[in-house]
Parts: sequence; structure tokens; C-alpha cells
Amino acid sequence: MARIIDVPLHEAGGSCDPRAVHGAWGALDAAARRGLLYTPEVKVETDHLYERVRHVIPSIEWPAYAPLIAAINRMKREKNAVILAHNYMTSEIFHCVGDFRGDSLQLAREAAETDAAIIVQAGVHFMAETSKVLAPEKTVLIPDLRAGCSLAASITGADVRLIKQRYPGVPVVTYVNTSADVKAESDVTCTSSNAAAVVEWAARTWNTERVILIPDEYLAKNVAAQTGIKIISWHGRCEVHERFTAQDIAEMRDAHPGLVVLAHPECPPDVMAAADFAGSTAALQTYVDEKRPAKVVLLTECSMSDNVAATAPGTDFIRPCNLCPHMKRITLEGIYDALVEMKHEVIIPEDVSIRARRAIQRMLDLPKEKPRAFKVGMPEAAVELV
Ligand code: 13P
Ligand code: SF4
Repeated sequence: MARIIDVPLHEAGGSCDPRAVHGAWGALDAAARRGLLYTPEVKVETDHLYERVRHVIPSIEWPAYAPLIAAINRMKREKNAVILAHNYMTSEIFHCVGDFRGDSLQLAREAAETDAAIIVQAGVHFMAETSKVLAPEKTVLIPDLRAGCSLAASITGADVRLIKQRYPGVPVVTYVNTSADVKAESDVTCTSSNAAAVVEWAARTWNTERVILIPDEYLAKNVAAQTGIKIISWHGRCEVHERFTAQDIAEMRDAHPGLVVLAHPECPPDVMAAADFAGSTAALQTYVDEKRPAKVVLLTECSMSDNVAATAPGTDFIRPCNLCPHMKRITLEGIYDALVEMKHEVIIPEDVSIRARRAIQRMLDLPKEKPRAFKVGMPEAAVELV
């Protein structure tokens, strides 16, 4: 049985914000207020789902979640809806109502391919926009409009127009963690699964030595270290990943001999250098599935450890808890209300959508490859910040 061990981060590091964690009592209260109860029928409908989350949800709490889960799954069938669940969703959402689960690249591909009439994005707003851009004829719902992202908030379409004026002819590669407006000003998008491959492709295709990669300063530095390509970037940062430090890693290695350290490439370069493996959330999941380390820490959003633990019995997860407050806006009752009331529908002006789709489609049309791991132990590469 996988074990989850919460540890505090040093000083400025993050900790669980109880207001952000909704928990069983919140779900129980929300279900009751909607007239949803744990009946024998609900038990029959949901018992098999409990098996997927029993490592994180005590059996005494299951009756709090099951009524909303059963109601959501029934409504999905009635309305021909699917739920795209990002790896950072809490386990009762990820494993019990998510139809497609994965990193932002996998979810974008699913949005482009699904036959469903309605997509509910169990993730943040930029992900819902990406789904709408790729599936404009479908209704795309985001359960909570406040589910933003510090990277997406760091830059606007007007900023990108100014950058292009300053660097004419230099291709603009934009991380998917941005608004549709920003994507519309870009040549191609990338995710953490393919950032190095897209930057190399852009340099070849535009025949340039420099590439603009925005808005994540750390991702840009990490990609520059991988590719040796000169990168111009922006001062955006992920508020979750920027909090990890190399000191955290040293302390965790001291406390847990044999620990395998996996990092997401939104982490600072010195953290990447001190990790054993780095990659997108999908790459981290694959690493644990394939290598089955005895003791691992995932330097990324903390729900991810709960979700990976479901398929990794025998691995202990050391968990420095860094929550993404935006991802945690998405709750079972938010998803339920979104489907009942058909809210909040994502709408993107057509001209923006067409231009954003061109940039996303270029990325999706590149040869499909396994999420690319980032080499660790690399010296920090300089990037030019606009
Ligand atoms: P992935 O593309 O690796 O899923 O990352 C998305 C994200 O928001 C990471 O913070
Ligand atoms: Fe944005 Fe960071 Fe949250 Fe991912 S974890 S959605 S990059 S704030």
C-alpha cells in the first residue's frame, strides 16, 4: 500500500491552506443542501469507484463524497458530457468523475477528439479556453471562474505585441499556461511535455538562433539549458513551483535516505539541477509507474502525489504540500452545479479563437512523442528577460 507522508517545507515554503482544501465535511454539507444523500442505490453505483481512492479517503468519509459523484456521473450520461481532469485535481474528482485524465497536453488532445457535446474542465481557466479553441462547436464549462493561474495572469496579448515589435522575425513560442489572447499573438504553443522539442522546431523552421519562450522565466531557463538555444523570456512564474528550493531537497534527502526526487520544469533551475528526474506531470507519472521507486517526492502540486499513489502500491510518497489555490477552486459541487445550471460557459471571440487555434494546432501537428524528460544536473543557462 502506498503511503503519503506530509512534511513541512523550510521557512518560506508552502503548506496546506485549510481554506483551499474543501474536504469531506464540505462535500457532505454541499450534497445535503442539494438534496443528495448516501442511499443504498448510491452505494451500489459508487462502491467500485471507492477502490480507486481508498488510499487517500478514509472509508468513514466516503458517504460524504459518493452522492455528488453518483449524481455527476448520471448527469454526464444524460447530457452527453465529459470531464477533463488535470493531474492536480483532488482524488475524488480525478479518479471518480474524470473521464480523461492527464497533463495539459493530453487534455488538449482529448478536447480536440471527443464526441461529447459538453466538456467540463476540471482544471484551470486557460485549460478550458484551450478546449474551447480546439472544440469551438462544443459547450465548454469551467466550474469556477476564479480558477486562474499566476503564469497566465502575468502577461497579456498587448505585452506580446510589444515583444514582437522589439524582436521582429524571432518566433514566439508560448506556454499553454496563457490566455487565448496571448496564444492568438503567438506562432506556436508548447507544454512542459514538449517545450524543448517545440523550441528546437521553431529555431529550425524560422532558421534563427533565438526563440522567444514566454511567459515562464524558469521554464525558459530550463529549456535553454536543455537545448543550448538562446531564449528571450518574460518574468512570469508559477506561484506553486517557484517555492521549492534546493535547500528543501537537501533537507528531504537527509531525512529520507534513498529518496528519489522528481521535479516539474516550472521549478527554479537550481531545483532542477538537484533533482533525479524532471518533466511534465505526465512524465512524472510515467516515471513512477515504470521505475517504482521505494520512496519518492514529486516537486509539484501536492494532489498529484495522491493521484499517482493510486497506481503505485509499494511506493512511499514524501509530500511537501504545495497547493495550487486555483486548481483547488474546482470541487465536486462546483462540477455538479456547472452541469445542472450549464455554467460557466467559456466564450472566446471568433477572431481570437481562430488565431489561437493556429498556434495550438501547430503544436499538436508536431510528431507525437513521449513526454520529453528534462536532463537534470545541468548548469543554469542565462536567458534574456524582456
Ligand atoms: P503540465 O502540463 O505538466 O500538466 O503542467 C500544467 C501546470 O499547470 C503545471 O503547473
Ligand atoms: Fe498555474 Fe502554477 Fe497553478 Fe499550474 S500550479 S495552474 S502553473 S499557478
